[in-house]
Amino acid sequence: MKIIGGPASQLLSGRVAEEIKVELLVSEIKKFPDGELYTRVLDEISGSITIIQSTVTDSDFIALLQLIDASCDASHITVVIPYMGYARQDKKFKEGEPISARAIAGAVKADTVYTINIHNESILDYFDAKAVNLDATPVIGKYIKNMGLVNPIIIAPDDGAIRLAMNASNDLGLDYDFLDKTRLSGETVTIRPKNVAVKGRDVIIIDDIISTGGTMAETISLLRKQGAHEVYTACVHPVFSSNAMLRLYKAGVKGIIATDTIEKGVSMVSAAPVIATAIKKI
Ligand code: R5P
Repeated sequence: MKIIGGPASQLLSGRVAEEIKVELLVSEIKKFPDGELYTRVLDEISGSITIIQSTVTDSDFIALLQLIDASCDASHITVVIPYMGYARQDKKFKEGEPISARAIAGAVKADTVYTINIHNESILDYFDAKAVNLDATPVIGKYIKNMGLVNPIIIAPDDGAIRLAMNASNDLGLDYDFLDKTRLSGETVTIRPKNVAVKGRDVIIIDDIISTGGTMAETISLLRKQGAHEVYTACVHPVFSSNAMLRLYKAGVKGIIATDTIEKGVSMVSAAPVIATAIKKI
């Protein structure tokens, strides 16, 4: 197997290739004067190919399609989309809207597709290929376990994230609980107070995505009011749009933990072992 590292997932692709000791193919990506993307894989494409590329921006998605097309002579194409943009538009919220996640998935032509903690697993059905969603929360849990925290507890900001909190704490003997979030707008949420046992304890709030930071900022403030010792946030996908990072620190976060499905300064936990274990089986 050879791995093509997409432009948005260079660090993660390198880490996966290193982990399973396979050749990493290098691509050249540049823009034409009119803004269109030029992509070329500089090493030989042959045999079974795994392309690793998060689709954080629209350009990342175009680059993924180009890399898939460039691999058309491979014997088997596996596409790993560690973070899939547009996954949150997984249904029509208003008349006239597209199901963007379906449009994106339908354009990805491959033999096998892997995503990581995709927003909603029902999106997997929109891929023509067999699609499998991987879970990076156990690697986050392992990281948390080694942080030397005071009687830590993992908290999910809403019931949708309970599974993340549960899987991150699994086998590690960590406690977990969840809160009750209502989204008021794209940037504003309210978290209903609920008595969770946080007094004097270090708390890690876990979610799949931190985007505007609204969910986390609100949860951090609430848990600090409830007497938590230090509050950390953890997420799989550090989107961090606009001023999200500032909102978290303003709310009093002690530290931010994230994976490298999106490569940011806070991506200290690697999802590489999760991908490596899955693609080794191909
Ligand atoms: C929502 O369903 C997701 O799990 C996250 O809670 C959400 O995407 C976080 O967004 P934001 O950071 O903008 O509150």
